[in-house]
Amino acid sequence: MTRPNHNGLEPIRFAYWVPNVSGGLVISKIEQRTSWDADYNRKLAQIAEEAGFDYALTQIRFTAGYGAEYQHESVAFSHALLAATSTIKVIAALLPGPWNPTIAAKQIATISQLTNGRIAINVVSGWFSGEFRAIGEPWLDHDERYRRSEEFIRALRGIWTQDDFSFRGDFYRYTNYTLKPKPADPQPEIFQGGSSRAARDMAARVSDWYFTNGNTPEGIRAQVDDIQAKAAANGHSVKVGVNAFVIARDTEEEARAVLQEIIDNADPDAVKAFGHEVKNAGKASPEGEGNWAKSSFEDLVQYNDGFKTNLIGTPDQIAERIVALKDAGVDLALLAFLHFQEEVAYFGAHIIPKVRALEAARERRAEAA
Ligand SMILES: Cc1cc2nc3c(=O)[nH]c(=O)nc-3n(C[C@H](O)[C@H](O)[C@H](O)COP(=O)(O)O)c2cc1C
Repeated sequence: MTRPNHNGLEPIRFAYWVPNVSGGLVISKIEQRTSWDADYNRKLAQIAEEAGFDYALTQIRFTAGYGAEYQHESVAFSHALLAATSTIKVIAALLPGPWNPTIAAKQIATISQLTNGRIAINVVSGWFSGEFRAIGEPWLDHDERYRRSEEFIRALRGIWTQDDFSFRGDFYRYTNYTLKPKPADPQPEIFQGGSSRAARDMAARVSDWYFTNGNTPEGIRAQVDDIQAKAAANGHSVKVGVNAFVIARDTEEEARAVLQEIIDNADPDAVKAFGHEVKNAGKASPEGEGNWAKSSFEDLVQYNDGFKTNLIGTPDQIAERIVALKDAGVDLALLAFLHFQEEVAYFGAHIIPKVRALEAARERRAEAA
């Protein structure tokens, strides 16, 4: 049954993780023909645009951790990718604390003006206490981090849409503030990442998009049901994006062998240290339900539980599983790969057309019914 997800019968959207930090998207010593440098990433954005991807998501990191030794800054890097492309939207990550809404609103408005409104943002709330300690930022309790992120989003929206904006929050204050120019149309979409109750509650109040870690269709459905019920009660509309690590090969055995090789080459100390950090972050939410709360060692080899979504197999299997995600209420698949340039091109040539064909067949069946 097609669930009444936000998009209804609309096509599922595709985003890819921009490798703007070193080490790729797995904590493994397996060979990766992926680079974090600017030239590689400009070319990748062009390939993705051509392949039919709708969005590119850049990452924000202030310090090394678990293999990500070098990290290009997200907003600046996003602008470089926008300058090298013409239709794809780029989502820049912002971390309240180091970022404040004043600078973010101004900078994103300018990039929006420069790129015909192709910039979007991902408000992240922090999982890495060591990073905050390293840069002298206070590390708030889990739910306080989300309370701050919600104020951050409310402040951004106010600054972007109102003249003489005034706001009295616990974290941010504005008095008759007018930003000019405001962003170009359309307004920058606001994504957010996280899976805890606080994350879902925030998304159901203020975000346009809720990004969550990889999961099974059942796990995703439970989150979607919760978030959509809450959003409906608030009179708010939110769409859902899910992370997945794609391994597409001619046979399922080949794809599974690549997954095994990634896990066999995992750096156990780095994976365990990452697991320790993120499980603390997840457990820190009062109900212990955050991202990674139930992740195994194998799951943690991919930063955001992307193996769990199981887009691992032949193009046909992957296309069918993507449509199953749609049935679970997912509007967007956020994808990572081992060798980004080659595999993004392959995904566009061999998997997106299959997904579109399955969607069209469903649409015809729905119309007939
Ligand atoms: C798709 C996605 C992208 C994220 N990107 C970043 C990022 O670039 N930088 C960062 O510090 N945290 C990032 N996060 C982490 C979240 O903002 C959040 O801190 C984490 O998921 C824990 O949240 P939870 O306790 O609500 O589950 C991302 C999370 C998701 C799901």
